[in-house]
Amino acid sequence: MTSALYDSFIADYYDESPIVKGRLQDVAFYRNAARDFGDPILELGCGTGRITMALAEAGKRITGLDLSGRMLERAVEKRAALRVEARERVHLVQGDMARFDLGGEKYRLVIIPFRPFQHLLDVRQQVDCLECVRKHLAPGGRLILDVFQTDAERMHDPVHMREVPLTEYETADGRRVRISERVAAFHRAEQRNDVEMIFVITHRDGRQERLVFAWPLRYFFRYEVEHLLARCGFQVTAQYGDFDRSPIRDESPEMIFVAEAVKEKP
Ligand SMILES: C[S@@+](CC[C@H](N)C(=O)[O-])C[C@H]1O[C@@H](n2cnc3c(N)ncnc32)[C@H](O)[C@@H]1O
Repeated sequence: MTSALYDSFIADYYDESPIVKGRLQDVAFYRNAARDFGDPILELGCGTGRITMALAEAGKRITGLDLSGRMLERAVEKRAALRVEARERVHLVQGDMARFDLGGEKYRLVIIPFRPFQHLLDVRQQVDCLECVRKHLAPGGRLILDVFQTDAERMHDPVHMREVPLTEYETADGRRVRISERVAAFHRAEQRNDVEMIFVITHRDGRQERLVFAWPLRYFFRYEVEHLLARCGFQVTAQYGDFDRSPIRDESPEMIFVAEAVKEKP
């Protein structure tokens, strides 16, 4: 297994960060989707199991797949803390969402929550991922993925190369954490930015450290995703601009696509 981007300090800070902790609307959205479309569910890029465990607690059988061993370690800990019936509904797998084969299992719902798809930088990987999803979908099943809606100005204005504070919080064991963010480089021709999330951590003994989570981020445009889905044999059945199911508008923060496989791939 190749080493993954999230096999770093980020796995230890992910769940407690207000940026992640404050995301409650997407949990409710995916819980409703699970109610509407049923299980078993496959979650790609499940990370620490933030959505996985919520769906298992809602009574759904769910497989979470992620590339990062360290993110999955956190998910294993969370699964262990579930009630026994919920625990038995969760299956965790280490793997690449662009290249997986879960041995013939078919899913009623495949979800890719909180933008793992934006880690797939090139079209080949995106197509490979969608082809793997198609093979794993049960007839009539749905794929749901979310990406942020691209604000083109943010994607090239050098003002965003300046470090801006995002949030500050204290961990359960008393470390003070300050998070800021900057764009380190723009690659417009590749629709990709190099982003840095900077963590300044003050430990209980006063020692300070500065840790940088740096990653390349692929951004998408609405009709690009529609075309990509169509190319891979999907038909979009709904799309939303936020987790309240509002339509995609100019100011919408998200682009959420619900798609089903068409019988004949184009
Ligand atoms: C922003 S986190 C989202 C985690 C989780 N879905 C959530 O909602 O909290 C992105 C996750 O995608 C995973 N990821 C990135 N590239 C991947 C790949 N090629 N295959 C599987 N997982 C991947 C990362 O390891 C990370 O856990």
